[in-house]
Amino acid sequence: MDGLPRLWNHELTVANYTMHEGAGTAVDDFDIRSRLCLSCHDGTVALDSFGGQNGSTFIGTGENLGVDFTNDHPVGSDAQYPPDPQPVWWTGAFVDASTLPREVGLEEWVDGSLVVHEVVSCVTCHEPHNEDGLDMLSTTNNASALCLTCHLK
Ligand code: HEC
Ligand code: HEC
Ligand code: HEC
Repeated sequence: MDGLPRLWNHELTVANYTMHEGAGTAVDDFDIRSRLCLSCHDGTVALDSFGGQNGSTFIGTGENLGVDFTNDHPVGSDAQYPPDPQPVWWTGAFVDASTLPREVGLEEWVDGSLVVHEVVSCVTCHEPHNEDGLDMLSTTNNASALCLTCHLK
């Protein structure tokens, strides 16, 4: 599997999604780290499906993002950074990608023709190891600080 980190034995999601920009799939429209997260959080793969075994315990409703992302912040192919074309809903600018802090990292999304794009990912906003009492956010969102690292207002 292209780009799959080592020490990962959980079954990967192959779900179909409704993205902001239309129909999408886990395989074609997500950077690998977002796909790892979605392999529990889209609710289609059991938490205990690993090592080739099919599990039966699924993520709880509070943490289940489902397969319709139109109500969520864009990630993966929906969220190339900087966005091109500039989205119509946002007349402000985006912070220069090279100046984003380390905590707000962009991931690489590789589409079918092997073009690499930098994209907003689950791990852009979330630190999965829950450091610093930040409730699994990569940096504080007090006064929208996390959002304003990218969105210039
Ligand atoms: C192996 C399954 C699995 C994977 C993979 C996984 N999660 Fe989770 N995640 C869970 C479960 C289960 C919970 C609920 C934990 C609880 O209720 O205590 C959870 C909870 C969360 C929460 C809510 C925490 C809170 O305090 O409310 C966030 C945010 C989260 N996960 C983000 C991520 C991100 C980002 C990734 C990818 C880097 C990821 N998860 C990968 C299973 C997973
Ligand atoms: C633009 C930033 C951003 C991105 C991208 C993002 N999240 Fe979140 N997420 C948040 C914020 C902010 C919260 C609310 C945290 C809080 O209130 O403590 C949250 C909450 C959550 C929760 C807790 C349940 C809920 O709905 O409130 C889960 C689970 C979660 N995110 C998983 C993910 C996964 C998986 C991805 C990738 C598909 C993702 N997030 C992408 C910012 C983001
Ligand atoms: C890493 C940079 C980054 C961060 C951090 C970030 N955003 Fe975004 N956001 C983007 C990009 C890029 C898009 C546009 C994607 C596109 O349309 O191509 C976007 C799109 C949006 C949209 C439009 C979604 C839609 O329906 O089209 C909203 C609303 C938004 N962001 C709010 C937030 C909020 C709230 C936060 C903080 C929780 C946040 N953003 C954090 C980069 C970021």
